[in-house]
Amino acid sequence: MQAVVCTRYGPPEVLRLEELATPVPRKNEVRIRILATAVTSSDCYVRGLRLSPAYRIMARLVLGWNAPRRRVLGMVLSGEVDSVGADVRALGPGDRVFGFNRHLFGTYAQYVCWPEDGLLATRPTNLTDEESAAIPYGGLLALHFLRKAGVRAGQSVLIFGASGAVGTSAVQLARHLGAEVTGVCSTANVELVTSLGATRVVDYTVEDFVDGTERYDLVFDAVGKRKSAGALRRCRHVLAPGGACVSVDDGRPNLRREDLVLLGELAARGEIRPVLDRTYVLDDIVDAHRYVDLGHKRGNVIISVA
Ligand SMILES: NC(=O)c1ccc[n+]([C@@H]2O[C@H](COP(=O)([O-])OP(=O)(O)OC[C@H]3O[C@@H](n4cnc5c(N)ncnc54)[C@H](OP(=O)(O)O)[C@@H]3O)[C@@H](O)[C@H]2O)c1
Repeated sequence: MQAVVCTRYGPPEVLRLEELATPVPRKNEVRIRILATAVTSSDCYVRGLRLSPAYRIMARLVLGWNAPRRRVLGMVLSGEVDSVGADVRALGPGDRVFGFNRHLFGTYAQYVCWPEDGLLATRPTNLTDEESAAIPYGGLLALHFLRKAGVRAGQSVLIFGASGAVGTSAVQLARHLGAEVTGVCSTANVELVTSLGATRVVDYTVEDFVDGTERYDLVFDAVGKRKSAGALRRCRHVLAPGGACVSVDDGRPNLRREDLVLLGELAARGEIRPVLDRTYVLDDIVDAHRYVDLGHKRGNVIISVA
């Protein structure tokens, strides 16, 4: 099969398209023919080991010292089950699935084997594989943190970084939970964030949300602390009594299969929609990583593998 291997930690150019043996599923695994994957910001952190010095050592110990031990990166997929291990019961050949796995990687390829009890679910049939691959990463992360913050109907929620993968999901999911949403993004994304259901949009290039008179029950940082630290330090000024500020970088989220199922159902009912920025092919993975490295993608960058 064709797959992109990460030859060492470094810039996008460390990624190389190679011919690898097609994996064979173990007893508890399904082999998925991947039709689309996503280049996530997490993929770029792993590839470039773009972490603080303390985390970098830990990451090398866990992931591999000079290069990832799991040479094929990629955490997100949409595709079709192609064969199954002897103990697999819930899935069978031909099932259309989408999923996320931040431990095993392997989705920058034509095939991958993942355990059937992982973050895998039936993909929404109204979406293409490219659209389905734009749901799991931002959707699961946003849902986890909105739940953790206890967002409920009638609350006022501000999403900082409303146009990224996590942000576009957070806007839509907070709306789905009944909250009134204010999104913060740059000028080019104001229309997008409005179209996702934000009642108000703050363009951070002309206005600092912490200077406004609005008060929020939740400020959710969907940018990540490296860039949002300054805003987070000042965000208590805009919190309503009892309000909270939560960052997508607050700890390691517990992502659940039932939430992936829920995201698939919401997408099937049109209550959330995937946001796709650019779509590349596997051959152009270096360009896709260069683009995501810029830190300003709109929603998701997708790789069409078919
Ligand atoms: N806790 C965890 O385990 C975990 C896991 C995965 C990811 N994360 C975190 O989640 C973050 C977001 O991921 P993502 O994939 O959604 O990122 P993304 O798609 O690259 O989105 C980044 C967003 O940040 C905005 N932005 C960039 N620079 C900014 C600045 N200086 N000020 C304000 N906004 C800025 C961009 O909007 P504009 O283009 O409009 O500026 C964009 O909407 C990651 O960076 C990472 O820190 C955490």
